[in-house]
This record gives sequence, structure tokens and C-alpha cells, in this order.
Amino acid sequence: MGKNTWYKEMCVYHIWVRSFCDGNGDGIGDLWGVLQKLDYIKSLGVNAIWFSPIYPSPNADFGYDISDYKNIHPDFGSLEVFQEVLDEAHKRNMRVFLDLVMNHSSDEHPWFQESRKSRDNPYHDYYYWRPATYVRGHRVPPNNWTSHFDGEAWEYDALLDEYYLHLFAKKQPDLNMANPAVRREFKEIMRFWLDRGVDGFREDVVTFIGKTPGLPSSYPRLPAVNGMKHFSNRPEVHDYLMEFKRDVLDQYDCFTVGESPNTTADTALRYVTEGPDQVLDEMIAFSHMEADCIMTDMVPRPFSLPKLKKAMTEWQVKLEGKAWNALYLENHDHSRVISRYGSEKYRVESGKMLAAMYMLQRGTPFIYQGQEIGMTNLRLPRIDMYPDVSTQNAARIASHLLPNSLVLKIIQRGARDNARSPVQWTDGPNAGFTSGEPWFQVNDNYREINVAAQEDDPNSILNFYRRLIRFRRDHPVVLYGSYREYMPKDRKLYVYERVYDGKRLLVICSFTAEQVRFDAPVNFDLEKGLLALSNYDMNFVISNGFTTRPYELRVYLFE
Ligand code: GLC
Ligand code: CA
Repeated sequence: MGKNTWYKEMCVYHIWVRSFCDGNGDGIGDLWGVLQKLDYIKSLGVNAIWFSPIYPSPNADFGYDISDYKNIHPDFGSLEVFQEVLDEAHKRNMRVFLDLVMNHSSDEHPWFQESRKSRDNPYHDYYYWRPATYVRGHRVPPNNWTSHFDGEAWEYDALLDEYYLHLFAKKQPDLNMANPAVRREFKEIMRFWLDRGVDGFREDVVTFIGKTPGLPSSYPRLPAVNGMKHFSNRPEVHDYLMEFKRDVLDQYDCFTVGESPNTTADTALRYVTEGPDQVLDEMIAFSHMEADCIMTDMVPRPFSLPKLKKAMTEWQVKLEGKAWNALYLENHDHSRVISRYGSEKYRVESGKMLAAMYMLQRGTPFIYQGQEIGMTNLRLPRIDMYPDVSTQNAARIASHLLPNSLVLKIIQRGARDNARSPVQWTDGPNAGFTSGEPWFQVNDNYREINVAAQEDDPNSILNFYRRLIRFRRDHPVVLYGSYREYMPKDRKLYVYERVYDGKRLLVICSFTAEQVRFDAPVNFDLEKGLLALSNYDMNFVISNGFTTRPYELRVYLFE
């Protein structure tokens, strides 16, 4: 990293392999399935793939609980099959990034198994073990932090009479990155994969890997995610990342993107500002995913376009000239964006509008499997049909306050499971995902929404993504232009320009089914622009503006 700049012109396809494509008929997506689909991925025009974790895992958090960092989950294949995927991707000029989870491992990882054997075991200090204390005869945890997935952040172990820290599920004990031996392990893990030809890493919740020494309690005590200031964006995180960069990453032609919950653009700049202190190429922002919820997808509020615009603009403006953005609207942690920020009724229109809205900004676009065909939320009829640990946790907490019917609605809207239903390839059995029994429900709408149906339709969302990716690749104004927003307070339209080397791009996105009169900013004459992308036919201009159709998109290029 550091000297490389190829990631600025990159476009990434994100695979959550369990639901991508099943190659061996056991109902679980795998690397054999990926091999079958590499030409499809390439046909989108992307030049990189990021795999959510594909390592051995007991699947308490579907792969984000890793029990062996140097192998491949047998459900997904083997090191040999992975090498084939890597080589075949490289042959097609696509880079491959792995997800690296350094904040925690699985409790079934041999390190943790050893660490819980005795207080003087050499692995004991790989994790945050702390002795139990007793207040008036009651055992209490070492501090008052809460976990993201599982109530208290501490789990008691009777053998040692100690607690271990887990910011996520109980089966995801936090690794003690302050221990140099743990950092050595991760440097070796990075080299293991980079030496095999992997092109870099997406680093999971990397802003959490440093904790305040002494692990103090946090006040005022919050009902959820209490302790955040002691485990988020601590100065140690930068030190650790600098060590990884100096000792390993700088010796390879590779890329790193850090997942950064609870991080503002200003804070992100500490890690990604180009120059000697840079420790990551990009960071994955969260604020733009909170335009219809409060902090987590499980606390809903009505969608607010000004909130979305404010978040996107903040990262665009603050990073300009200093650092590079990661652009995304979907991944395995959020429900489908058409169901959130767009409209299922105007699925095709809003799907294309949303795609252009984020992909024409400055940064590296990430596209999540199924997004490119406009997949939508699932809506299962019962809470227990949602397998994700964080969904079940949210349901448990919410059920203390709300009736079941409402809890179900919240889950149907916000669950990560929405993004994890199998990719819809065809209108055949199980949407062509598997010849066996799919591990998770296929969305009923697969007969209408599937890759095969969209391949031959020039107006499909899929073919729009292809045009958009090509357009971005071929136009330096999209890659490198400056960004400026118009009418930031408008509740229905998102309008921005990009400017580079005498060329200008004007992007107009309607976020409503209503008709809205749009007047071009004074410095633009629409009649002189070339309509480069749109989601309707017959794009008239009247008095340097137009009345929008539902979720209309227009992109004008001025050369
Ligand atoms: C990240 C991952 C998410 C996982 C969590 C804990 O947020 O994207 O899927 O559950 O970290 O590893
Ligand atoms: Ca399989």
C-alpha cells in the first residue's frame, strides 16, 4: 500500500460466499460456485473481488468467528480451490481481497482453547481475561461495557474464575492486540495470504482493535453499546496499523480498506490521509447508512434524504485532495437498499438511480452480490426464521418493550439476513442457486428478479450497472473530479456536480414518486449537455429544467 494508486480506478464486487452460488449441491454457496461465475463477475466490468470470511468457522456469526486464519472452510472448498479462484481471477485481471477479522477470533480457535486452560498458559494473554470480583457476595463483570450482539460484553468462565471480553457474540472473544505476540500472529497471517497472491484485505471493525488500558467502566451508562469511547478509535489502533504496514504491507503491492463503525470523516482522516501517517487506503463509512435508522438498522425512523446527502457530502468534501473514499450502499450487514432508500414499486427506476447516485461520486465503488440485479428484502413470517445472531439479539431486546408483531416488522425491515438470501440466478428451482436444499430461504420474487432474465434485457438494472461501471472507468471526471452539492436541504432531489480538467458532470437524482420541478443551477445549460445516463426514455428539457418522473435519474456531461 502507500505508493499504489490503482485502487482509485478500481470497482469491487463483494461476495458473501455462503449465498452466492452452490457448486456441489449441498445447499451452501462455495468456491466451486464462484469459479463458475467468474466470467459473469468479469462481465460487470469490475476489476476486483472482496470475499467476506471464507476461513474455517463454527458460524456463530457466519464466518466472522474464525477458528483457523490460514485455511479455507471445508463447506467452501480448500486451499487448492481457493488458489484456483485466485489464479482464474488474476487471469481475468481481477484482484482478490480477503476479509481479515483481527478484533476477535472464534472461541473454538486453538488460541482461545489454550487461553482458557489456565491463567499461566502462554495463550492466556492473547485475550482479555480478567478476574471476577465479588460485591456483597455477587459476582460482577470487570466493567460495564455491553456487547453489540449479546448483552453484557463479558462472559464468565468457572474453571479460571475469570471473565473474557467479547464486543460481539459470546463465541467471538476479543483478541488482545496490545500483546505483541498477537500482532506477530497477524503479521504472519497477512504474509501467508499475500505470499499466495492475495491482493489485500478488508479489515473487519478495525477501529475497535485498541482498548483503553485498564479497561475502565464507561459513564454515563448507555442502554446499548456502552463503553464505545474505550474501544473505538483509540490511538493504539493507528500504532498497530502502522506496525502492520511497515513490517508487512509495504513489502507487497496490496490494498487495505478498514471497516470503521462509529467513525466520522474527520476521524477517518487520521488513518487514510495520504502521506507518511497513512495506515489504510480507505475506510468503510457508516453515517450514510443511518438515513432511515438511529445508530443501528434495528431502530427505524422514516427515511430522510437530507440526512443521506449530508453524510455522503461530508465524506466527499472532507476527504477531497487528502484521501480516497470507499463507496457502497449494500453489504452483508444491511438490508437491501431498494427496500430502504428506493421503492419496491419503482424497483427498476430506483435501483438504477441509487446505483448512479453513489457510483458517480469520488471513491472506489463496492457492489454487493445481488445488488446489481436489484434484489429486495425477504419478509419472512416468523422471527425464528432469521438465523443471524445480531437479528436474534435485537429481537430479544426489542421484545422486552414491544409486541411481537412489531418486533417482526422491525426485523423484516432491518435484519442483515435480508442481504443474505441466495443470489437469484434463474427462474428455475431455488433460483438456480443450488441443485440441493438451500441453507436459507430464497426470496419468492426470484421468478421475476433474476440474472438470466436481465441478461438479455437492455433496460435491466444489470445492464445499467454494466454501463455505469464502464462510464466511470472511461471518464476521468468521474474518477478524479471535484464534488459539489446543490440544494442540500431539498427533501426530494439529490443534485451534485463533478468537475475535472474543463469537463463537468451534473447528476440529478429524484428520491420520490412525486413529480418535482427541477431547475438546473445557473451555471449549467442542460441543452448544451450530453445526456450520458438516465433511467427513462424521452428526456425533454423545458426552460433549462424538467419535471421529474418517479425516482428519475439524469446524468449530463458537459465537455
Ligand atoms: C463487521 C462485519 C459483520 C460482523 C462484525 C463482527 O461489522 O461486517 O458482519 O458481524 O464485524 O465481526
Ligand atoms: Ca456447496
